[in-house]
Amino acid sequence: MLTETTHPDPSSLTHQTQSFAPPSDFAETANAKDPDIYRKAAEDPEAFWADWARRLDWITPFKTVLEWNPPHAKWFLGGKLNVSVNCVDRHLASRGNKPALVFEGEPGDVRTLTYSQLSVEVNKFANVLKSLGVGKGDRVSLYLPMTPEAVIAMLACTRIGAVHSVIFGGFSAESLQERTNDSGAKIILTADGYWRRGHVVPLKATTDEALKDGCPLVEKVIVLKRLGDNLSSLHMEPGRDLWWHELTENASMECEPEVMDSEDPLFILHTSGSTGKPKGILHTTAGYLTGAMATSKLVFDLKDSDLYWCTADIGWVTGHSYVVYGPLSNGATVFLYEGSPDWSVSPDFSTKGEIAVSKENEEGNLTSPGSQNRSRLWEMIARHKITILYTAPTLIRACMKWGDDHPAGHDLGSLRLLGSVGEPINPEAWLWYHKHIGGGHCPIVDTWWQTETGAIMIAPLPGLVTTKPGSATKPFPGIAADVVDEKGESLPAGQKGILVIRKPWPSMLRTLWGNDERYRQVYWSKFSGIEGGESLYFPGDGAVKDEDGNFWLLGRIDDIMLVAGHNLSTMELESALVEHYAVAEAAVIGKTHDIKGQAPVAFVIIREQFAPKIGDIEAIHALSAELKEHVSKKLGAICRPDDVILTADLPKTRSGKIMRRLLRDIAEGRIIGDTTTLADPAIVAGLKDKYAGEES
Ligand code: WT7
Repeated sequence: MLTETTHPDPSSLTHQTQSFAPPSDFAETANAKDPDIYRKAAEDPEAFWADWARRLDWITPFKTVLEWNPPHAKWFLGGKLNVSVNCVDRHLASRGNKPALVFEGEPGDVRTLTYSQLSVEVNKFANVLKSLGVGKGDRVSLYLPMTPEAVIAMLACTRIGAVHSVIFGGFSAESLQERTNDSGAKIILTADGYWRRGHVVPLKATTDEALKDGCPLVEKVIVLKRLGDNLSSLHMEPGRDLWWHELTENASMECEPEVMDSEDPLFILHTSGSTGKPKGILHTTAGYLTGAMATSKLVFDLKDSDLYWCTADIGWVTGHSYVVYGPLSNGATVFLYEGSPDWSVSPDFSTKGEIAVSKENEEGNLTSPGSQNRSRLWEMIARHKITILYTAPTLIRACMKWGDDHPAGHDLGSLRLLGSVGEPINPEAWLWYHKHIGGGHCPIVDTWWQTETGAIMIAPLPGLVTTKPGSATKPFPGIAADVVDEKGESLPAGQKGILVIRKPWPSMLRTLWGNDERYRQVYWSKFSGIEGGESLYFPGDGAVKDEDGNFWLLGRIDDIMLVAGHNLSTMELESALVEHYAVAEAAVIGKTHDIKGQAPVAFVIIREQFAPKIGDIEAIHALSAELKEHVSKKLGAICRPDDVILTADLPKTRSGKIMRRLLRDIAEGRIIGDTTTLADPAIVAGLKDKYAGEES
């Protein structure tokens, strides 16, 4: 935790010398080009947001912009609208034949849906849901692959006022069960399975497991046929399980949109806190859509001519706000990809527009005739002429590790803007992204936000803001972000502290589903001892501002180390390590130390071409020593890691966040805590052995 005394920033993080002004041709045509937008929005944020809300299609216009009874906000009171109308119907007259979705499956099958076609599918599926008794306010679990049907299902829910709860398709039966029971969904939408690294992921079988005595409320399961005959066996429970295509076949193409109140629930999305059961974040209708629409338009500079690709799965909030609601409310064309970023089938298959399959695997399922292809992302960007790419630092660092040749071999000239989200992006990865993917000419928007905030909170407006690698730069207009000490007092530039949001914003979470007490406690109680403290939103991140008013995110406050009285952020040490030519990725934690309080320990992934051979102890030790020295030179002796462990992998959540808590367990020799949210639990066991071996 951050202590009451804050220290001047000891690191070089905020002293980046490089900065990148918006390219003049970009700035000239940018959606946000008047710098006054910041001043105006700060003077009257409610007027700023009301202006954006008025760009939605309303059935009944709102009367009151905001009602704020901390910690509960209501936005755009008295207004009536429908989200699917705003994302689909209102584009039909001007953009009916424009592609809304361009989909590529892992085996290479391609499908395009225009706004008119999307409208037909959404209406039909909305009628299917209705016919099964789903109505306004009912919850629906979505456990689906990244195919157009996922988007169709989400929009169909909004058309009839049902509340969707998307569960990431990589999650286990247990997660599906827990989340479905928490929301009280009586229907689950799933698929037979989907393609991932050439293999099938059997979603329906996992759903069956979750349902076995596990979800008493669930009455029906609708199953999308994605794999068809490529799956060896599939059980359909009579009376409960229904085929998607059979239900939609004869459904009517017209479904009257439900009239929704601004504050009616739109969706629940669970985030796994570090402890305890997942939190069901609740977002409501008008405020959420206003935030998603405004930020998409201004941060991604969305234009009618763009082919926009956000690589996030719809199982994360990024997929909700920046695959579905933000871009579609703006009438944009969205690219969707089903599979893994480093896998392909042979070109023979991928050009046929069909799903290609060949051999059987151990379970008797067919697998696609593919192989590892670390150029897959760049091939798709070149093939479809994608113009905007929004992805996560974890993927950017994986691409760095794979080497520069992959992007270099493809024409990425269609790209005009790049985005990053999910973690702090260290300057080295930022610069690599800028040079190797953006060809040196694409602005990069590093976007800080959370499932809870619903929309981007801190990010550059790309035509206006000079970026600095590693900084998310400025709060979005109308967002009152600040850096404070433990007493809630604003800190001057250069002092590390706690990030807070001082004023409500339209897309903020409204509560935690079924647990308002926990909502108060997690987000609004940190400063409750001070005057006005109950209206300071506490996101849980550390930050520091620089002299130019840019924000630098320092990671979760719980991860910040206290080394000999100095607050050191994981971000600072990790960035310094990644600057070393041999390092692809690093995770730093503080381990308990008798004298210093905590001592930094670094877990480091080496770029493939510099990795010492397995068993070459001398080379391993030499590289570890070199890295300790490198950090010490760069940031000062106090930051020198006590241990540097070279590893092939790091424990990450399925959304790509490093689980530092587990690394602390390893370094302190504890029993490893809960690993259910890990993408690959085997990594932890391997690291534990390694740590014990290298420490001695
Ligand atoms: C946490 C929220 C936002 C959608 C995806 C993750 C970290 C996110 C950044 C960024 C530094 C970032 C924060 C935040 N984070 N984006 N650009 N720079 N940190 O949503 O799972 O709710 O996680 O992710 O720690 O609190 P989430």
